[in-house]
Order: sequence, then C-alpha cells, then structure tokens
Amino acid sequence: MDDTAAWWRSAVIYQIYPRSFADGNGDGLGDLRGVRAHLDHLAALGVDAVWFNPWYASPQADAGYDVSDYRAIDPVFGSLEEAEELIQEAHALGIKIITDVVPNHCSDQHPWFQEALRTGPGSAARDLFWFRPGRGADGELPPNEWQSIFGGPAWTRTKNPDGTPGEWYLHLFAAEQPDLNWDNPKVREEFEDVLRFWFDRGADGVRIDSAALLLKDRTLADFDQADPPNPHPFEDRDEVHDVYRVWREIADSYPDKRALIGEVWLPDADRFAAYMRPDELHTAFNFAFLGCAWQADALRTVIDETLAVHAPVGAPATWVLSNHDVPRHVTRYGRADTSFTLDYRQLGAYTDRELGLRRSRAALLLNLALPGSVYLYQGEELGLEEVEDIPDELRQDPMFFRTHGANPGRDGCRVPLPWSGSAAPFGFSPADATDSPWLPQPATWADRTVEALAGDPDSMLGLYRRAIALRRTLAVLGDGPMNWLAAPAGVLSFERPGAEPVVCMVNLSEGPVALAPHAEILLTSGPLTAEGELPVDTAVWLRIA
Ligand code: GLC
Repeated sequence: MDDTAAWWRSAVIYQIYPRSFADGNGDGLGDLRGVRAHLDHLAALGVDAVWFNPWYASPQADAGYDVSDYRAIDPVFGSLEEAEELIQEAHALGIKIITDVVPNHCSDQHPWFQEALRTGPGSAARDLFWFRPGRGADGELPPNEWQSIFGGPAWTRTKNPDGTPGEWYLHLFAAEQPDLNWDNPKVREEFEDVLRFWFDRGADGVRIDSAALLLKDRTLADFDQADPPNPHPFEDRDEVHDVYRVWREIADSYPDKRALIGEVWLPDADRFAAYMRPDELHTAFNFAFLGCAWQADALRTVIDETLAVHAPVGAPATWVLSNHDVPRHVTRYGRADTSFTLDYRQLGAYTDRELGLRRSRAALLLNLALPGSVYLYQGEELGLEEVEDIPDELRQDPMFFRTHGANPGRDGCRVPLPWSGSAAPFGFSPADATDSPWLPQPATWADRTVEALAGDPDSMLGLYRRAIALRRTLAVLGDGPMNWLAAPAGVLSFERPGAEPVVCMVNLSEGPVALAPHAEILLTSGPLTAEGELPVDTAVWLRIA
C-alpha cells in the first residue's frame, strides 16, 4: 500500500505523561478526567496526535511501566470506558491517539507472574519468564552477572511455594518488572491480542517500549559489559525483527493502517534503521538527535546521518528533544555541555535559563522545519525546566533507588504541569483537592502556567502555537526533501524545496548573521537585530519565492 501521505510521516505528536498532566479527582495524581478537561489545550496547540505513557493497571513501581493488566486502565487514572470516551473526544478534535505497549516485561503482580511463583520450578507458567536456579552451593548466587539498566543485579531470588529460597528471575529493569520470555509462543499471542485490543478501541498507533530488548540469548552467558559481544545477549538480537513483522501485519490489517513507533536506543545507526524496514515499524525516536550538543557542525552531522539511514528503508525521520526519561532540554541547552547520554545526567551543573530558553525556541523552529515528524513532551511548550532540587524523600523513580542516589533518576522532568494561578498546585489539581501534587512544583512556575503564557504570542506557548499552526499551512514542511544552503560557519541553513519553498536558518555562531535572500519573513524564534540580522541562538523561517 502507498503510505507516502500517511499521517505519521509528518505529524506533530504531543507526549502526555498521564500522572503529571492534569488531576481531575484531586488525589494529586494526573488522570484521564484531567486530560479530558484539557483537550482544548492540545487543540489550541494544533498537534496531530497524542502519545500516552502507560495508563494500564499497574502497581506503579516504575510509573506504570510495570503493567499488571494490559487491557485495563489503572483506577488511579480512571476506567476503560473513560479511555474509550477520551479516544473519541480526541478524534472529534482531529487528534490521533497513540498508546504505549510494554512488551519486554510486565509487573510482578501480573497474574502470569503470580502463577509462575505459585506453581514452582519447571512449570509452564515459569516458562513465560526467565526463571533459573542460582549458582553456588545453595543457589545463593544469581544465574549470571547481568546488570539491571536501572542499576544493581538483573536477577532477584524467589521463594518456593513452601517458603524455602527458590529460583531467580531476570529483570532488565526493576525487580518489579520481570522480563517475559519471547521464545514462548503464548507471550507472542498475548501481545498480538493486546495490540488488537487497543486498535479496536481506536488507537491510531502504538509506541513500543524497550523495543530492542525482547529476545535474549538462551544460554544467558556472562559477558563483559564494557565490551559486549556481537550479537549482544539481550539487546538488538536479530530474532526480534520477526516479532515486528507480525505486528506490522496486524497494524496493516486495519483499513486505516495503524502506526508502530519504536523506542529503540541503539548506538549503531544502521542497526537502528533496520527496525523501520518496510515490513516492520513505521518510525522510531531519534535519540541520536536528542543527545546531540547545541553545536552547528554536530547538529548538521546528526541530521545528515539521520536522513541517510532512514532513506534506504523509506521511513520518515523523527525529531525529539525531551521525553519522560531525559532532563528537560531548556536545562540541557543552558549548560556549558549541552549534550546528553543516558548515564551522564549532569545533575546540578550550572544552567543559564535564559540561554536555554533562547536555544529551545530556536530548536523548535529547527525541528518543525526538518523532514519528518516531531515529538513534543508535555510542558516544553511552557518552557519548563528540569526540577533538580526534589528532596530525596519525595523521589519516586526506581533508577534513583537502585543506584543508591548516584543517578538522580527521572523525576525532575515528571513534575506536574502548571495550568493556572499563582501558587501550587497551579490548577493541576482542582481547588478542593485532598492531596498535593505527587511531586512538588517550584514556586517559580507561577510565571510558566498555561494561563500566564496563553495571552502572549511571544511567550514560549505563543511561539509553539504560531509555529505549529504555520507549519500546517506550509505544504513543503513535514515529510519530504531538504537541501543545505551555503551559510557562514556556525549557521544551519536549509531549504525545503517545492512549489512554495521555505528556508530555515538557525544561528549557532558567535554573532548576528544576515538573512538568506527571501520574499517574506514567516516566523522568528526571537527578535531580529536593529539591522534586521539573525542574532545568535535564533532561528527564522523564510519564504523565498
Ligand atoms: C522505557 C521507558 C522508561 C521505562 C523503561 C522500562 O525506557 O521509556 O520510562 O522506565 O522503558 O519500561
């Protein structure tokens, strides 16, 4: 089928982190009622689709990425009926819905895992997971030395049904997230059915969590983490692609084809692109771009590499700067070192907020002008920064606990949104709320509420609204070709060719630069100089004919 005009190729997609978007029932935790009350915000922003982080039944050991029932909404968020209504309401506004599917692991409270614990070693229920006897005289050592991605060992010992120490099970993340055994056909069938369940309820796509981790080396051999073998024992194994070929058939079996979006963190660009071959996923998050420093040559290189690896597989690129796992980019862009890697979070490094804001505004125009789709993380449209001073006793991310605080974790980008008013909870919760927001909001957010910014077209929110609205009217933006234009050192300048071509310039040099020849200035991320030049850390869209 011809997917060339498919919505996911050009969409602006807004990520909702449900526990921090809006609290409708006053318990301090965001919920679906809160989302439904604020759909007007998404419509005013002009986004094409919304991706929801997990809203399923979950003990919330990893903020919902520990799912105990993939077909139920967690009562803290609402009910399945509410989710169905929400999907319809969003559709009525022209907004598509992407749900999050978490196939690598489930919750330790999932009925499958509970049954596996009850039935003991050798049972069919245990084969849905990775249960193994321990090493050592009494099995007191884990089956191997694999480390959890959240820190600490990737194995936890169980008790036998009679209470004696028993087998160990594998968890690449927290102990509450046992890894599923994707060699077992029952696991595959289950997730195929879960996909259909959400597609049947109107989900227009799914975001696939930890998409490259599903298959494991059955020998569970130890390896040197600093120098992993090829193939890796649990990352990006070739067999994982069979899973996505079947998922693609399911997505394509709907008359209005559904989109598969991968969370694939891989250093090798070609291995990454392989997930987007024509019979696999449609798109994947561009983490190489997310981690890139705010530096012209580095950005140009990563943009070129992105386009080069996507072209052969025919997949659209994605442009993303923030999500619920990484420090907010206003903060990153205000630091001396603007790059990011998963294990280098630079908590507490000095950050210049004004600089971070200026660069973030320019980055928005860059992203929206690049070929492909764009992901926005809730709150970036308000210029929210990473909250770095959350007291340890209020932190909730298992990453913080499993590293004994060495890694601050991800709570700082998950602080509840400020909507209105001059004091916490800033309209996040209703006036008669019984609890305060699950993470404390900084007092400075009085200046960053939707209410405070909405009236000002030059505010961060005003810029997001204007840029997204304008992008819709410019036919050459979104998916399609681009050409670099000659520009002074430190300046990114490219054309989106077509009947009505557009040029985007971003100045990352040391001083103001002249605008490229143009017929009209469409939008700037900040004021031009008195001489009409483009200042440092500023971007412009130009109509050139
Ligand atoms: C993904 C999610 C992250 C979660 C992890 C385990 O990386 O984005 O938030 O903790 O998977 O499910």
